[in-house]
Amino acid sequence: MTETNSGASRDAIEFHYDMPADFFALWLGKSMTYTAARFTRSDMTLDEAQADKINYHLDAAGVEKGHRMLDIGCGWGTLLKSAVELRGAGSAHGLTLSPLQQKYISSLGLPNVSAALESYEHHHPEEPYDSIVSVGAFEHFVKPGMTREERLDVYSELFRRCAEWLTRDGRLSLQTMTWGDAGQVERDMNRIHEIFPESDLPEIAEVVEAAHPHLELMSMENRPEDYGTTLAEWAKGLRANREQAIDIVGEERFKFYLDSCVGGSLLYRRRRFYLCRFVFRRRGR
Ligand SMILES: C[S@@+](CC[C@H](N)C(=O)[O-])C[C@H]1O[C@@H](n2cnc3c(N)ncnc32)[C@H](O)[C@@H]1O
Repeated sequence: MTETNSGASRDAIEFHYDMPADFFALWLGKSMTYTAARFTRSDMTLDEAQADKINYHLDAAGVEKGHRMLDIGCGWGTLLKSAVELRGAGSAHGLTLSPLQQKYISSLGLPNVSAALESYEHHHPEEPYDSIVSVGAFEHFVKPGMTREERLDVYSELFRRCAEWLTRDGRLSLQTMTWGDAGQVERDMNRIHEIFPESDLPEIAEVVEAAHPHLELMSMENRPEDYGTTLAEWAKGLRANREQAIDIVGEERFKFYLDSCVGGSLLYRRRRFYLCRFVFRRRGR
């Protein structure tokens, strides 16, 4: 089921993500992931930093040979493929609200990899998962204008579900943008709601508070500079492939993505947004 109860609707997700995969492939780099890379050395390329992020999440979620992994908001399936090919996972299942992403993953025909056009709110696994990852989807789970209490209810229900779906030793690795060092005026003026319609960012404190009854926080890192650099690299890629990109999506959409990357990069560098990676495990083990 693709209707959502609380966050961005399927139409809102399609608005941002349902461009041909060929367009995103021009500027996202080899990893074909649309979230912050992890630049742990100053001389890293975008592709190296994306590989670092992928390995970080597979380690953090404890993905091992034969394991079952779920990816909530799986994009074009890179973490699913990596779980199977790099760690020998027995099955890797992804959820997305983007029909083009789901078709793209199915067209790859990867063994032990599957993807469903389904919101996490309607997911009912037949067996528990050893690992859950969610990278850059949490930003879509609440709408602008919701009260703190309403947001906490949505986040808490997500974490309750994750705890229910995990095996006794199971872990969740979650990457999300959060609001950073930005006052109310800056938040009100921000274009994030135009770039990602019907979506709003969490506060770090909301993530921790909502997860606490269901999951134990094992570690957390906040590296806004990772997104500052990633977005600057994407902007370079878009500019370098300008003509081809415009052929695929047109001038207006090209400008939309380029402006989002340039503007976003500056905001991360000024720490107006944070980029957080949380690792949780089930409580009551
Ligand atoms: C920024 S993309 C990140 C994709 C991928 N994780 C990556 O790192 O490239 C956000 C993803 O979240 C998915 N998404 C948004 N809301 C969702 C929901 N309610 N349930 C499942 N997936 C959702 C979108 O369809 C999209 O695949």
